[in-house]
Amino acid sequence: MAFVQGRPRFGRSAENLERGLALAAGVEADLVVLPELWSSGYVFSSHAEVASLAEDASNGATARVLGAAARRERRCYVAGFPERHAGRFYNSALLVGPGGVRAVYRKLHLFEMERTWFTPGNLPLAVERVGPARIGMMICFDWRFPEVARSLALKGADVIVHPSNLVFPQAQQAMITRSIENRVFMVTANRVGADARPIGTVRFTGQSQITDPSGRRLGRAGRTVSCAMAADCDLTEARDKSLTAMTPLFGARRPEHYRQLVSRTRPR
Ligand code: ACM
Repeated sequence: MAFVQGRPRFGRSAENLERGLALAAGVEADLVVLPELWSSGYVFSSHAEVASLAEDASNGATARVLGAAARRERRCYVAGFPERHAGRFYNSALLVGPGGVRAVYRKLHLFEMERTWFTPGNLPLAVERVGPARIGMMICFDWRFPEVARSLALKGADVIVHPSNLVFPQAQQAMITRSIENRVFMVTANRVGADARPIGTVRFTGQSQITDPSGRRLGRAGRTVSCAMAADCDLTEARDKSLTAMTPLFGARRPEHYRQLVSRTRPR
């Protein structure tokens, strides 16, 4: 598994996709994860701008460029992009392989101005096979909602990929916890730099990482560098859900006591 960390230029979709592939060329991995909204950049300033940069999931720029690379390189890519579908816009990620687009994930938990530009995700959390690995997708701010990683792990994910444009400094640490509490690998592909736009400036934290089911960092990028990094993920580690000889992680759960987690009730 590998991540690309980099600095897309707002609105320069073709250039960003090529730059992502150039960075990815430096790593050997069956699956390479690029950041959230990699093709477009993050800070939109109008609905018209979202509409002009949004892509169709199956034949937009991200699908075409990464699909061609996947065919050429005989491996899979995940990348974030602004999706147009049935008159709505989503902050989405796609999984593409040598045979074309395999899956789309639409971000469930939108952050700040994303709530103005995008519709919250409406697709079920799902797990896809990449070779022997079972892959789940989540996007950036989903890290704040441990239900996402837990749901993917319960669906059988060995590896959760996490295209991101992280802004909170706690996120990378929290992803270590998500790895430990679910015994899964996590691949966070974050961006660096800032989007300085007329509407405001947002700065991103870099430090992309790959963590293992024990919470070890198998690889970590710096705060500002553009790079790609890969790590071997031994899937048997993620499939061993026993915490001790007598304590299975999932078997020890008490879901009948967690009903509030799936209700809309808010604490007073
Ligand atoms: C974020 O979800 N991009 C902060």
